[in-house]
Amino acid sequence: MKVELKKIHLSEAKENLLCVFLMQDEEPPYDVKRFLHDVKKQRYEGKLLQTYSTDTRNEAKFKHLLVVGLGKKEEFKADYLRRAAGIAVRYAASRKENIVAMHLPSNFIARHELMQMVQAMAEGALLSGYRFYDYKTKKDDLFYVEKAVIVSEEDVADGIARGTIFAEAQNYSRRLDEQPANVATPAMIGAEARRLAKEHGLGFSLYDRNRLEKMGMGGMLAVCQGSVHGPLLIRLEYNRGKRFPLYCLVGKGVTFDSGGISIKPSSGMHEMKYDKSGAINVLGVMMAVAQLKLPIRLIGLMPMVENMPSGSAQKPGDIITAHNGKTIEVLNTDAEGRLILADALALGAEEKPEYMIDMATLTGAMIVSLGRHAIGMFSNDDALSDALTEAGEATHERVWRMPLWPEYGEMMKSDIADIKNISEVPEAGSITAAAFLREFIGETKWAHLDIAAVDMVKGPHPYLDKGATGTGVRLVIAALMRLSKKK
Ligand code: BES
Ligand code: MN
Ligand code: ZN
Repeated sequence: MKVELKKIHLSEAKENLLCVFLMQDEEPPYDVKRFLHDVKKQRYEGKLLQTYSTDTRNEAKFKHLLVVGLGKKEEFKADYLRRAAGIAVRYAASRKENIVAMHLPSNFIARHELMQMVQAMAEGALLSGYRFYDYKTKKDDLFYVEKAVIVSEEDVADGIARGTIFAEAQNYSRRLDEQPANVATPAMIGAEARRLAKEHGLGFSLYDRNRLEKMGMGGMLAVCQGSVHGPLLIRLEYNRGKRFPLYCLVGKGVTFDSGGISIKPSSGMHEMKYDKSGAINVLGVMMAVAQLKLPIRLIGLMPMVENMPSGSAQKPGDIITAHNGKTIEVLNTDAEGRLILADALALGAEEKPEYMIDMATLTGAMIVSLGRHAIGMFSNDDALSDALTEAGEATHERVWRMPLWPEYGEMMKSDIADIKNISEVPEAGSITAAAFLREFIGETKWAHLDIAAVDMVKGPHPYLDKGATGTGVRLVIAALMRLSKKK
């Protein structure tokens, strides 16, 4: 699906379906008002995301009109437009319309916010138009909305271009994350990363088992010990030149998390194919950063492994040594994400980046503490946390900063090794996991994003369908843009 601009008055729209977004107390434009005869019958009051639809019976160039309410002016935010555009595209799909026209409501938007609003609209349309049909064999029955046309008299092409880059990066992540574990093995993700790097001119290297052994990547090697699939560390680099600030992204890439010998219950276990979301998000961000030509340098590290039980699997009680030399007592093989991140974060810290950000589906406890509406953020740096918080508001991929006091670190001390991989008291599970990670970052300014609650959706959402969400991609792109501007 694509989004295009048509610089015309709304009365000139001649697509079959025109969608108009209206504030609750706003006077509708003439070309809409004359079709509002049925609002009482349809109980349309202009409340947030309420809809009204009617045929125009040859009285307008467009044949069908959809009105989506935006609620009260005082409460308005960009995400409402993202949601409204998402609903418009869904409505188009339900009517089997290949093209949908959407009117940009520019009269109540401040000029300096116009681009941001158009970007949100383009994102909502593209995210809602995404379909995953890779494994459907009857291709004839499958329907896509092909195009959203944004109707506006303003020149908002830049906002559309940016929204397209953001949303396509997220959709790219969703598509790859949705691939099941029998297809998306570490080797397959490595091949895909190579293709992406070539397409966008990124630096690329792969480290296989041999190299990882030489590098002392004890966490990665231990986690994949029970799997027939070898481990792979993928490194990508975007480089605009030495004078630009260096940042590092790390993503948890567990292609399937069975729990290992500390095996998970079988109900819902299939969802653990999404345990690679953090790493896949890194790929999406790298792609967008290259397209946006951001004035930064960016290293992306993706430790890829599969966590399986078998005769060769690691066992509870094993003691391993991570890349920075610290020893870890593995008390639970299901706390595997932090073991591979330990290696990758230690490696990232050696590059001396100005900031390091990791994304990981790290703890089920995250779902307990914040539910599905926020990403848990853990950081040792206020400027970095603020940039991520602001970016979260703008993208509606909101983050909430959690504490990381020294007391939580105390909970992770082992009796016989430097550190243990779980605290034996079942409390503050997400924070103790973050405290574990902190042992591997050295002095680096860092933020850890626990995306366990948001990497997939099961239920209704205004613009994300069931399945992998790619949540975190737009957030991190927006945060990097903010950080690079502060320089
Ligand atoms: N990948 C899981 C975390 C997870 C759980 C993500 C549910 C999404 C949904 C992680 O590897 C894990 O198993 N964590 C354990 C940690 C525990 C053993 C301390 C957990 O959360 O139960
Ligand atoms: Mn696990
Ligand atoms: Zn996991």
